Amino acid sequence: MADNTGTADIQEHAGTAGEDGVRRRDFINIAAVGAAGIGGIATLVPLISQMAPSADVLAESSTEIDISAIKPGQAIKGVFRKQPVFIRNLTTEEIAKANAVDVSSLRDPQSLEERTKPGKENWLITMGVCTHLGCVPLGAGEGEVKGEFGGYYCPCHGSVYDTAARIRKGPAPKNLEVPVYEFSSDTVVKIG
Ligand code: FES
Repeated sequence: MADNTGTADIQEHAGTAGEDGVRRRDFINIAAVGAAGIGGIATLVPLISQMAPSADVLAESSTEIDISAIKPGQAIKGVFRKQPVFIRNLTTEEIAKANAVDVSSLRDPQSLEERTKPGKENWLITMGVCTHLGCVPLGAGEGEVKGEFGGYYCPCHGSVYDTAARIRKGPAPKNLEVPVYEFSSDTVVKIG
């Protein structure tokens, strides 16, 4: 009896010690992982703040473009943050064509009004980067093919954009992107 009790006591003791040991190890592991996590965050913060562009870099990354020479029906190609940007002065006919489309039938539903500034619906300003795989569509340069919807045509895989630069045919999933911009005056647009 005494032996049995003694053994039981020892086992119980060993069990308790073992569980405590495990718990302590778990705690040490958790504490170590926790510390590593905090270390990771502490390392990330300076990295992220280093990656954020400073105010002067951001200012440099906006572009001012004189649009006074662009006649209705003409377009120019500019550069914004090292990428092509199209600035197009739509004719009354091109505006009417864009507005005649049932927006809900579009792959990327947007009206011309939503893609331009109030009172300046003739100025269509978009990135010149196809939303499929990034080629530069045709249609902004003198005599370039505009495609069957009269806007832009991407020769890489045949995406066709309309007079509001909305995707109408081909593999591109989205309309040509409208960048952030504002009119500095009637003849100058600031992009970015
Ligand atoms: S990149 Fe324009 S259609 Fe593929």
